[in-house]
Amino acid sequence: MLNEEKERLKILLVEDSASQAVLLKRMLESHNYDVETADNGLTGSIKAQEIVPALIISDVNMPVMNGYEMCKLIKAIDELKYIPLILLTQLSNPEDIIYGLECGADNFIIKPYTEKSLMSRIDYLLATSRIRKSDGAGVGIELSLGSKTYLINSEKRQILNLLVSTYEKTLEQNRQLKEKEHELTLLNAVLEQRVQEEIMKRLEKEQLLIQQSKMAEMGGMINAIAHQWRQPLNVISALAQELDDSYEYGELNKEYLVDVKDTILTQVDFMTKTVDDFSDFLRPSKEKMIFDLKGSVEDIVSMFSPYFLKNGISLNTDFLDEDVSVLGYPNEFKQVILNLINNSMDAIILKCSKVHQQAEGRIDIGITKENEKIKVFVSDNGGGIPADIIDKIFEPYFTTKELNKGTGIGLYMAKTIIENHMGWKLTAASFEGSAEFIIEI
Ligand SMILES: Nc1ncnc2c1ncn2[C@@H]1O[C@H](COP(=O)(O)OP(=O)(O)OP(=O)(O)O)[C@@H](O)[C@H]1O
Ligand SMILES: [Mg+2]
Repeated sequence: MLNEEKERLKILLVEDSASQAVLLKRMLESHNYDVETADNGLTGSIKAQEIVPALIISDVNMPVMNGYEMCKLIKAIDELKYIPLILLTQLSNPEDIIYGLECGADNFIIKPYTEKSLMSRIDYLLATSRIRKSDGAGVGIELSLGSKTYLINSEKRQILNLLVSTYEKTLEQNRQLKEKEHELTLLNAVLEQRVQEEIMKRLEKEQLLIQQSKMAEMGGMINAIAHQWRQPLNVISALAQELDDSYEYGELNKEYLVDVKDTILTQVDFMTKTVDDFSDFLRPSKEKMIFDLKGSVEDIVSMFSPYFLKNGISLNTDFLDEDVSVLGYPNEFKQVILNLINNSMDAIILKCSKVHQQAEGRIDIGITKENEKIKVFVSDNGGGIPADIIDKIFEPYFTTKELNKGTGIGLYMAKTIIENHMGWKLTAASFEGSAEFIIEI
């Protein structure tokens, strides 16, 4: 429609909210319509008779007279009944459509609406208002909804318009819903990816901590290796000394040399095995595997027993007879046992330093089976765990040791490995000078 033509067209706007009225008036004026306003159905119907507008837009809920009643009134007046009337509504229930049809409204605009949809609806109604005049009078239809019966007298085109306007809105809402659904799917995918990334990061961090805590045990391990090597090194060095003497005394025959060579090779084998055992232990287990529980504890005991003995502490084992195979990470499990026996050694040494006594420590490692449940016990005679700290010992960075002597991550890592990685349980108890750690598988 041409703008000059539009200038002549008057729109009556019936709206009780002053702010809404101002906004809508401005919008319509910007499209070259003359706008008159009224603030309820009664003043609206009076104004309509005065100015005979080209189109009426009305709110539904208003004081004094609502939009439906005003519509009914206007549609009953011969000079006004062909004026297209748009109701602005929330359309929250089916009755709203029936009321609209009953009162003869031409179109619904469902709040909230866009400027584009309102203007195209106005254009359409104005363009078809002449055709509407030529439509025959509507035949009354009785319609039941809920417990009520309504008489619809609207013309066919009006009914169609009204229904199409609600259908359009439904389509629009459906489209928006689909868009939102699509956005949600995308968002979900992004979230999923983030969660995965976070999990990976956490796992990497944990892995790093495990490795770090293993490295922290390195100092002790180097001492243990040094101790393991001392004996074979002494043997080799004594043999070297003897070679000189034997030569002097003419004892250096073929048989003697083979004997020395065999002894040296045995010692070197032992030293190589020690290093292999430790470097194997330092390598993280890549995936869960079935491993021999007794064998793993024995590995640790044989690797560290000589070193512990040097510190006056005996490592004793008491295992059930049958073989015990479990599913988990063998090296991480060994690391837990090493953490526990290192803590025991620290406790024993501390206790003995307090009473100025040579350590007479004992660490017992037991494996039992009760009702198909396998348990690994590590207990010591290091004085036990004080009651006021026993609840905190598994917290990260909790330590009672001097700076540089403890980081406080040993037991935290042990718990993470046992409970999160293996799905087992690690608990601590303390009685009469003895600390006991229990792994339940
Ligand atoms: N067998 C034990 N007997 C008595 N107290 C213990 C025993 N094991 C652990 N604790 C207490 O629990 C605390 C936490 O132990 P944890 O192994 O987590 O850290 P840490 O040994 O202090 O340091 P690190 O990180 O070097 O292992 C220890 O500082 C100690 O107070
Ligand atoms: Mg520790």
